[in-house]
Amino acid sequence: MRILLLNGPNLDTLGTREPSVYGSRSFEDYVAELRVVFSTHELAYFQSNVEGELINALRAAEAGSDGVVMNAAGYSHTSVALRDAVALMSVPVVEVHISNVHAREPFRHQLLTAAACVGCISGFGLEGYRLAVEYLLRRGA
Ligand code: DQA
Repeated sequence: MRILLLNGPNLDTLGTREPSVYGSRSFEDYVAELRVVFSTHELAYFQSNVEGELINALRAAEAGSDGVVMNAAGYSHTSVALRDAVALMSVPVVEVHISNVHAREPFRHQLLTAAACVGCISGFGLEGYRLAVEYLLRRGA
């Protein structure tokens, strides 16, 4: 199966960004490990700081992927457009947050995009991505 890992704004700085919240590992490093763990499947990875590019990536995944693991980062709390893009997809999208957004500032408690996803994992660090991929593979994406 082909799963797209889709990361939103500022997640390109993982490893150096607020390590006490997001850890000290780069996402590229973590993806390399995931690709070994799920070696019989294809894990594609795309990151953008631009809302429209994330929407375009979802649209492309609709045709080219069996499932999506999405961390829309700050856009999760604000983007109606991204939520609408998820809602019209026929392939499953799982939302992941590295930190436990519910234990943080109140403005992070609202997750516009999560309501359109099949589920949401929050607070397990980078391992959330592995759990989400595992879920998609077990459900047959
Ligand atoms: C995040 C949580 C968001 O509130 C924040 O804006 C991020 C990262 C997370 O993975 O914990 O950029 O999505």
